[in-house]
Amino acid sequence: MSTAVLELRHLSKTFRGRGMAPVRAVIDVSLEVAAGECVALVGESGSGKSTLARLALRLIEPDAGEVILRGQSLMRMRGGTLRRARRGIQPIFQDPAASFNPRRTVRSLLSQAIEGAGRERAGEAEMAALLAAVMLKPAAEYLDRYPHELSGGQRQRLAIARALAPRPAVIIADEPLSGADVSIRAQLLNLLIDMQARSGVGYLLITHDMHVARAFSHRIAVMYRGRIAERGPTGSVLAAPLHPYTRQLLAVVHSLDRLPRDATAKPVRSAAGTGCGFHPRCPLASETCRKLEPMLRELGPGHSAACHHAASKEGGGDPIQSQPQLIPGINAC
Ligand SMILES: Nc1ncnc2c1ncn2[C@@H]1O[C@H](COP(=O)(O)OP(=O)(O)OP(=O)(O)O)[C@@H](O)[C@H]1O
Ligand SMILES: [Mg+2]
Repeated sequence: MSTAVLELRHLSKTFRGRGMAPVRAVIDVSLEVAAGECVALVGESGSGKSTLARLALRLIEPDAGEVILRGQSLMRMRGGTLRRARRGIQPIFQDPAASFNPRRTVRSLLSQAIEGAGRERAGEAEMAALLAAVMLKPAAEYLDRYPHELSGGQRQRLAIARALAPRPAVIIADEPLSGADVSIRAQLLNLLIDMQARSGVGYLLITHDMHVARAFSHRIAVMYRGRIAERGPTGSVLAAPLHPYTRQLLAVVHSLDRLPRDATAKPVRSAAGTGCGFHPRCPLASETCRKLEPMLRELGPGHSAACHHAASKEGGGDPIQSQPQLIPGINAC
């Protein structure tokens, strides 16, 4: 893999509010995304995935840590410089309706995204090509519509077109497909893979769907209660998970297909005790786990886990870099 286009270094975020106990949503998280790479971020509900995405996009300020895009720290930028740099990192959210200005037409939304990126006036042909790429064609049928005049799936495709318009280095996609119809999910995935092959864009993909993570990502990062529990090449993590939490997740996923929205997952309070955050649910928990927070350690090639009991892989497992594949039977457009 080439060098990182996005580096998240030691990011932490605690939410505080009147009348509520502080919630440590993200705790000392470091993660990198290389050009042309897709990193899938998985973990149960409330583990801090969206907060990490919002920190990376600088929609919220971290308490500590840095976001580095193409070698430049976004933390030290302000005003116009920050706005320009941020065009290199584009979001796709689960609910695109919330991020569209309802008074702008498709034409206006796309031209704003293209011209905002400092390029010349958006031509009809470029907008039509973007719409065709996301299967909204013929363009004439869509350009003068408002977002509410599109279906949910069409709005999702428009969100992808808009994210791609400024030709970003990185796209942060927070469950981008969960609002889409099952029938077009594979098409959208293929589209994203295809776009990556053509443009070399890096993806940080938040997903509850392990099939998506398996098919689409080069690496997987597993979050648990605000921290990275495990990260590594997709093939290694799925074939030989190192952290007991990842093993539990995969066991459930094999029967349910999707990550559970665990009702027992509680937000991490600042007053939380010491030790490993997973120890109350861990079958391997020992005295050390109750007392000492485990650090993320590299135990196989590019494969790390934060567990006192995870053993080094002695040439075992298959540390292959899995290659995302187009989903069979569906043509990327
Ligand atoms: N603005 C906020 N104020 C207070 N607490 C917040 C805020 N945003 C998120 N949290 C809390 O931070 C924790 C992490 O939330 P986050 O949305 O990042 O989880 P997630 O992993 O994206 O979950 P899901 O899979 O359900 O989307 C949760 O306990 C959540 O309640
Ligand atoms: Mg979320």
